[in-house]
Amino acid sequence: MSRIFRFTAAQGATTMFRIPVLTIAALALLAGAACGKQEAAAPADSSATVAARPADPALAEVYDGSCKLCHTNPAAGAPLSGDRKAWAPRVAQGTDTLLDHTINGYQGMPPMGMCMQCSEEELIALIEFMSGAKLDQ
Ligand code: HEC
Repeated sequence: MSRIFRFTAAQGATTMFRIPVLTIAALALLAGAACGKQEAAAPADSSATVAARPADPALAEVYDGSCKLCHTNPAAGAPLSGDRKAWAPRVAQGTDTLLDHTINGYQGMPPMGMCMQCSEEELIALIEFMSGAKLDQ
């Protein structure tokens, strides 16, 4: 009796071991498939958004250290650099409002866009770069 029990227990253990391994393998496959799909569905211009930099090297450096952190990250909720559609209604508010929201902050947008040393001119140039629009001044 005890022998049979031991045998069953051993078998049970093997089965129990196998299930998680299979489950993990299946989950890994699913996760892999899901990731693949997400990549395929990502907008074609997202890597271009991340790669784009202002032409002026000094401005590009400022951009890399501040605006870029959020304005190339879809999860940040910020209008993305180069996404003219997302920027259009914001640009339509006018330069004064844009500048006010940039300097003082606006919802998820931190004051000065985290570039404390930026001048108004630099901020305007950065907004023009990200929005692809020329701002009236
Ligand atoms: C910590 C993240 C973060 C950083 C860094 C950041 N932004 Fe933003 N920004 C946001 C978010 C989020 C919004 C969208 C706010 C909203 O409409 O809810 C935004 C919106 C804006 C807007 C539009 C405001 C409006 O009135 O619609 C401008 C202009 C802007 N950012 C400029 C900049 C500039 C210039 C820099 C760099 C100097 C910068 N941002 C850095 C997160 C950031």
